Amino acid sequence: MKLSQELLNNLVKITSNSAIACYPYIGKNEKILADKAATDVMRDQLNKLNIDGKVVIGEGELDEAPMLYIGEILGNGNGPQIDIAVDPVEGTNFVAKNLPGSMSVLAVAEKGNLLNAPETYMDKIVTGNHIPYGSMDIDFTVKKNINIYSEITGKKNSEIVVCILNRPRHKKIISELKKLNVNIKFLTDGDVSAALLVSDKKFNVDIYMGIGGGPEGVIAAVALNTLGCNFQGRFLFKTKSDKRRAKEMGIKDLNKKYEINDIVKGESIFCATGITTGDLMNGVILKNGKYVTETIVTHNKSFLELVKKEVSIT
Ligand code: FBP
Repeated sequence: MKLSQELLNNLVKITSNSAIACYPYIGKNEKILADKAATDVMRDQLNKLNIDGKVVIGEGELDEAPMLYIGEILGNGNGPQIDIAVDPVEGTNFVAKNLPGSMSVLAVAEKGNLLNAPETYMDKIVTGNHIPYGSMDIDFTVKKNINIYSEITGKKNSEIVVCILNRPRHKKIISELKKLNVNIKFLTDGDVSAALLVSDKKFNVDIYMGIGGGPEGVIAAVALNTLGCNFQGRFLFKTKSDKRRAKEMGIKDLNKKYEINDIVKGESIFCATGITTGDLMNGVILKNGKYVTETIVTHNKSFLELVKKEVSIT
């Protein structure tokens, strides 16, 4: 395998350490400082790895540094060529306000196997691996998608739970879901973890839908691919400069519907360490002079794994 167990272990260390770097900022209402602390650790530690890496999903462009920017080269150059997607803090508001569900995230694939995408919004629909590929579609009406889901699963509308970001842009979808008597799980933020909730019945989420961040969509797709789940997305380019940038990045059809295999191919690793405790894992805990972290990891065909780590305060 080109993406080795050693690389995976190192990535888990890195997201753990970047989550720990945020710990002093939990509940301090300082989301920029939290993001910077996590980013600095992530950059510094990725640069020490034996990889020839490039950020394909990052936080903005070169002139927006100090964030990890799209195109940034990482690693010492002595190792496999890999594409990297970074989200040092997913849910910056959650860290700032000490609310559940923030995490530090990294996803990697071999060079050329991860979609190179600009920072823009993406319309998404996500379902678990019990739904056959291609059954539902972002271009279908909400009613049609719910009917299809109900037919496949035998669930009544009143038993279906749809997760969606609580935003004014979703007014129409939300009112249709209400009319259909479908249950809604409203998110205030954090649609990477929300998309992953469809992967296991224990989370009681049937469908994730609506418009969220494009980078977050690509990152979630890496884990969802390993888990055999369904993800479909379409970028939304509003401004002329968004469209120009997308074309420069090689996106020819701005209206393209991306299936999961258009986003990630081959071997991949996804690592997410909890900063504040959420549905997927615990946040950073400081106990007896040690930080304890929890990280969920997917690697190729291996399913969601929970890795606990203890890091002593030095
Ligand atoms: P940040 O952690 O970068 O603040 O992103 C949080 C988030 O909720 C994402 O999970 C989601 O994809 C995006 O913001 C939604 O954007 P918006 O808040 O503009 O609707």
